[in-house]
Amino acid sequence: MSQSQSTVPIRDAIPPHGGTLINRIALAEQVEELRSKANHCPTVYLSERAQSDLEMIAIGGFSPLTGFMGQADYQAVVETMHLANGLAWSLPVTLPVTPEEAAGLKEGQMLALASATGKVLGLMELTEKFTYDKTHEAQQVYRTTDDNHPGVKVLYEQGSVYLAGPVTLLQRDPHPLFPTYQIDPAQSRQQFRDKGWKTIVGFQTRNPIHRAHEYIQKCALEIVDGLFLHPLVGATKSDDIPADVRMRCYEVLIEHYYPQDRVILAINPSAMRYAGPREAIFHALIRKNYGCTHFIVGRDHAGVGDYYGTYDAQSIFDQFEPGELGIIPLKFEHAFYCTVTGTMATAKTSPSQPHQRIHLSGTKVREMLRRGEVPPPEFSRPEVAQLLAEAMRERG
Ligand code: ADX
Repeated sequence: MSQSQSTVPIRDAIPPHGGTLINRIALAEQVEELRSKANHCPTVYLSERAQSDLEMIAIGGFSPLTGFMGQADYQAVVETMHLANGLAWSLPVTLPVTPEEAAGLKEGQMLALASATGKVLGLMELTEKFTYDKTHEAQQVYRTTDDNHPGVKVLYEQGSVYLAGPVTLLQRDPHPLFPTYQIDPAQSRQQFRDKGWKTIVGFQTRNPIHRAHEYIQKCALEIVDGLFLHPLVGATKSDDIPADVRMRCYEVLIEHYYPQDRVILAINPSAMRYAGPREAIFHALIRKNYGCTHFIVGRDHAGVGDYYGTYDAQSIFDQFEPGELGIIPLKFEHAFYCTVTGTMATAKTSPSQPHQRIHLSGTKVREMLRRGEVPPPEFSRPEVAQLLAEAMRERG
């Protein structure tokens, strides 16, 4: 290799959102000092979601955010799906507390951020505290004010004051369940560079992978270099399949049905909001930060119940100027097993009539499993169906 070649930096396939990959993890040599500082600060106890948010901010998954949002960003996001500086951003990332908790806190103060069990996780410089309109946030963000919606329910039950400010995570602990799949954005970017991938498609999921997922992933993989399989393992609603069971399903699926050298499995520590369209944008921007150039958006992405239209999470991408998001959405129609051709397909590629299509969803499969039924091969690969049925028998 000539000298000039070796000095040329290997570029990432895509820059992080806003241009800089944020790192808010304390340097090893600062940890002790910060920890003793935290011992003298007022403590804010974080919900599971806020803990995930702290982690995501710190590792750069939420770049360009460096902390929980202040009022200007919050309002701009809620009203316009942009940060106050004009950069696209679709969901509030906020730290709610009760008015009683907020009362004793002063702007300019350092706060210790602790888990519910009191473990100090990080520090935040309190730059602002402000009240907000829950119903308005619900309507804007979730398109409903119905408290049966799991995201709206969390919003209505949380404190009515938001604390804002830049955060520092004291240390990056290995994930207790999936340490080998804890691949942070800087590392996924490195892995993509090492593999020489120029185009990478990210896949968000909160369900065990069924054949429709596999189909759209593989359609996408036909036109890009690599697949970043990035299941969300932060808080989900109680009837979603637990992350450890899902991870075993992904492993067995990759082992038997995927080209090993074209797939990277990694966990996404974020919490689900179930905000449908707005969350699809959010999910895409997160994957951009991990280094993905493309992002799969299928039917009712991040949806729940009947709150969103089947393709609302796709059409929302059209509300942004070309290039504003940077990452390219790959939109897929509702996929099913076509009994005419004996393959997975969508209405775009199948000659079948509706009654000749086997449509299953994560929800339907959960119902089958609860009834003690094993999902059929048209829906689930047998190895995955087996794992799910076993998990259901063990846990009830
Ligand atoms: S989500 O909440 O993470 O979106 P899920 O894990 O079920 O839920 O979906 C992961 C991705 O696969 C989403 O982009 C979703 O739109 C897509 N998807 C799920 N089922 C289908 C299907 N039958 N046809 C097309 N896309 C689908």
